[in-house]
Amino acid sequence: MQLPDYKEARKRNKNYQRIEYVIDKKLKDKYQGKTYYIRTYGCQMNEHDTENIKAILEQLGLKEIDNMNKADIVLLNTCSIRENAHNKAFGMLGRLKHLKEERKDLIVGLCGCMAQETGVIEEILKNYPWVNFVFGTHNMYNLPEILDEAITTKKQQIEVFSKEGDLIEDIPVKRENKFKAYVNIIYGCDKFCTYCIVPFTRGGERSRKKEDILKEIEKLVQDGYKEVTLLGQNVNAYGKDIYDDYGLGELLEDVAKTKIPRIRFMTSHPWDFTSKMVDVIAKYDNIMPAIHLPVQSGSDRILKLMGRRYTKEKYLKLFKEIREKVKGCTISTDIIVGFPNETEEDFEETIDLVNICKFDNAFTFIYSPRENTPAAKLKDNVTIEEKEKRLYKLNEIVNGYFKENNEKLVGETVKVLTEGESAKKDNYYGYTDTNKLINFTGKKLQPGDLVNVKVTEAKTWSLDGVLDE
Ligand code: SAH
Ligand code: SF4
Ligand code: F3S
Repeated sequence: MQLPDYKEARKRNKNYQRIEYVIDKKLKDKYQGKTYYIRTYGCQMNEHDTENIKAILEQLGLKEIDNMNKADIVLLNTCSIRENAHNKAFGMLGRLKHLKEERKDLIVGLCGCMAQETGVIEEILKNYPWVNFVFGTHNMYNLPEILDEAITTKKQQIEVFSKEGDLIEDIPVKRENKFKAYVNIIYGCDKFCTYCIVPFTRGGERSRKKEDILKEIEKLVQDGYKEVTLLGQNVNAYGKDIYDDYGLGELLEDVAKTKIPRIRFMTSHPWDFTSKMVDVIAKYDNIMPAIHLPVQSGSDRILKLMGRRYTKEKYLKLFKEIREKVKGCTISTDIIVGFPNETEEDFEETIDLVNICKFDNAFTFIYSPRENTPAAKLKDNVTIEEKEKRLYKLNEIVNGYFKENNEKLVGETVKVLTEGESAKKDNYYGYTDTNKLINFTGKKLQPGDLVNVKVTEAKTWSLDGVLDE
């Protein structure tokens, strides 16, 4: 049994090795005939981890089914970012408990970011002895052994390394989508924003070698993929740990040259977003003009308390540079309201910034204290009613801009990657270059088709259009 420890998790290991994943021959296909079901919470990184976990389970001979009630193994890939993510996972464990009472042989596992939290593991040890296995974000490659131990010994298995281990390459992947793919470029986060648990749950920043990334993308191009999203908690830090003069700008340029039709990347921290990166994004047509640039707050005082390393002015300068250089670029953001002791004036600074930036999309959250983070120790004098009021007001304003920006596109022709057909015949949906959802009418299209669509109507969260032949 290996349990998480925050002191260890805070440390950064710069001497990791690159290791290739191999499955133990004895375990290959051992569980043929059995089925699994995975429920995933959280961000794209977790979604992509789930794609790896599925492929690992299938090497053991397991088959995926979409009915949790019938599966032999149920796994929850969890998220710690806010309290409601926690509550959802514990709520699901409650349901699984009932299921397990009916079917004693059901195997239940938990993995992902919650597995890295000391409090969660203590809770599982105390109140959830029937959970068969838990593994952390740094232990995924050991899943075959952990699962096999849990099944054969019938004893609870908990394996969570606090600190990142080696960087494992060639983990198999079962991609959800046949034309859009996630590709990890950097793991972990060293920013330690004071409210955030991710540097503890995901470990230190570790970049994959450019050759490994480009090989993966070239294979995706050969397989007919149309879009890649380069993933990392902070993609802008790419390369800093392993190269002297090769960063995200250089990587984007090399990825653009693979001729993959669409490249996206997320998430960018405004702090180390360089002009070189902006220039590369502007230069290549296959780097999509849509940037997610979380601001969190418009108040310098709060930004400082959050440890974000930029001011409102610096953010606005970068915002303007992107808008000027990258034609038609949309910018989306994340905002937290109700950070401890956020005053009405601080909140008004955020509203002011939103009124300047008129974001194309924004994910807005009420601050949620997370175990062991510095912000969780701050005294907070903002009532929950006040926080809710601010969130409501902010949402009214950001939603207004989504609609306003979308209205500007009516009558224009936009490039769309078709995702699928909706319930109505000859109705399709997809995403524009600028990452806007569009529903459109057309004929005989296949998922993965890149088409031109004329925008006919604007809504708050989507566009309507017709195929422009
Ligand atoms: N790495 C990304 C963010 C990942 S988490 C970045 O730095 O931009 C996604 C979003 O969740 C954050 O941008 C933030 O807005 C929100 N978030 C993170 N921790 C939070 C907390 N404790 N309470 C509320 N929102 C939080
Ligand atoms: Fe969290 Fe900040 Fe890292 Fe983003 S950059 S994952 S908000 S610590
Ligand atoms: Fe959640 Fe972990 Fe992602 S905390 S947002 S799943 S990195």
